[in-house]
Amino acid sequence: MAIAVFDSGIGGLSVLSQARRRLPKKDYVYYADTKNVPYGVKSKEEVLGYVNEAAEFLLGLGNIEALVLACNTATSVAAASLRIKYDIPILGMEPAVKPAVTADKVHRILVTATPLTLKEEKMQALLAKWDNEHLSDLLPLPKLVEFAEKGDFQSPAVEKYLQDELSNFTLANYSAIVLGCTHFNFFRHTLRRLLPANVHIIDGSQGTVRHLASLVDESEEKGKVSFYNSKVLVSEAEELARYQKLLAILEDNMRIE
Ligand code: DGL
Repeated sequence: MAIAVFDSGIGGLSVLSQARRRLPKKDYVYYADTKNVPYGVKSKEEVLGYVNEAAEFLLGLGNIEALVLACNTATSVAAASLRIKYDIPILGMEPAVKPAVTADKVHRILVTATPLTLKEEKMQALLAKWDNEHLSDLLPLPKLVEFAEKGDFQSPAVEKYLQDELSNFTLANYSAIVLGCTHFNFFRHTLRRLLPANVHIIDGSQGTVRHLASLVDESEEKGKVSFYNSKVLVSEAEELARYQKLLAILEDNMRIE
């Protein structure tokens, strides 16, 4: 049996890399919806359709024991209905507002995500539950998804975009930036350069992986990973090498806090 890790594109590789570190012997199927990325600037209905189609395909493979929605956007629009439809564990991602707010109850936190994640009810519910003091500010960063999908993680264009977006906030008043989109993990190095030392970089992947580890047991598998680009099994050496390179870039970025 394998664990399916799903995202609109390459962002979910950040969750795959953390999951493999914690459960190295498990087999994984990574599914990037390369045909339909980006999700975060589309309508809820469209994204729901894409996620349902991908979930149906993955569950149809017949060897999936848990599905990880390694995408905050997909989780906010589709997790609840998928949990009703399927009886395997469906794990999701949510912006790490809880750890950010509870670690420091005085300073502000900057919650970044896709536009769709930020405007969904799930986001409002998360803030209502954990941020009674109204310490969070929301910042959509949709262009980071475009940059990431082009493999551009630290060019001057990336830096300028982030600098412009961050210039609207007095960063000395913030204790953390929450990366509420898995694609944003590719930009930890760049963000660290731009943010003052008082601002910690937090994402939700560790919580999701901890939850996953409590649900599955690491048994007899071989630690094999297969990749699908929107239902097509990746077999070309060049594309497999691209995935390995992206995982290495992430390994390096995930150490930056
Ligand atoms: N990686 C996804 C997330 O965590 C969304 C990126 C997209 O807009 O497709 O929200």
